[in-house]
Amino acid sequence: MNKNYIIRRETKDDYREVENLTREAFWNVYRPGCTEHFVVHVFRDRPEFVPELDLVMELDGKIIGHIMYVRSVINADDGRVIPIMTFGPISIAPEYKRMGYGTALLRYSMEKAKELGAGAIAISGNIDFYGKSGFVVASTKGIHYYAEPRSEVVPYFLVRELVPGYLDGVSGVFREPDGYFVNDADVDEFDAQFPPKPKLKLPGQLV
Ligand SMILES: CC(C)(COP(=O)(O)OP(=O)(O)OC[C@H]1O[C@@H](n2cnc3c(N)ncnc32)[C@H](O)[C@@H]1OP(=O)(O)O)[C@@H](O)C(=O)NCCC(=O)NCCS
Repeated sequence: MNKNYIIRRETKDDYREVENLTREAFWNVYRPGCTEHFVVHVFRDRPEFVPELDLVMELDGKIIGHIMYVRSVINADDGRVIPIMTFGPISIAPEYKRMGYGTALLRYSMEKAKELGAGAIAISGNIDFYGKSGFVVASTKGIHYYAEPRSEVVPYFLVRELVPGYLDGVSGVFREPDGYFVNDADVDEFDAQFPPKPKLKLPGQLV
């Protein structure tokens, strides 16, 4: 890993490069093709988007990573609405994966999220990656994913307190903000603006 990277806020001039990076990072990983580059595209105009945490990682003048955060909530069983953040997509360019850059970007961004007042983060993701940065399976903290029965342990739905104890005494349900739910026709129309890439059905995909 080359430690001479910088992490800075995304600017308008980066938009297409970041969308392309996201597309390259996610393409055929979780489904044939991907939707995440469109998610990045639509979120920048949404009110829950956090511009201060829309970050790119640059190495030798090239963007090799990106992460974006969104304000979200836990609907607690006692009626409270607990403000938290979620993030994603997080992308590292394919040729830089598994060298530590994703962890560095994630940890830097979590420090910034804490500085901005976030008490906790909830995300769907792989515990093998996120567990190394302090995430735990959310149901162990009493936080449940809206799409799964409460009786299930949902191994991919994770939380991380940024303020220790922030989720003490909280049980409730999380659903990603609406901007994460995009429809395939809109994604395909957007994707046509990028160089053609074959959509492949591969082992290990989720959809
Ligand atoms: C996931 C991603 C952001 C991780 O960034 P990265 O720079 O590749 O990860 P790191 O090198 O910091 O990984 C640190 C450790 O996390 C674990 N890890 C990383 N990626 C993993 C993966 N895809 N599956 C399982 N474990 C993973 C490994 O234990 C890794 O250590 P190792 O390489 O010594 O085994 C990056 O691989 C990526 O962009 N992937 C495609 C898009 C994606 O899946 N985004 C996340 C969606 S939730």
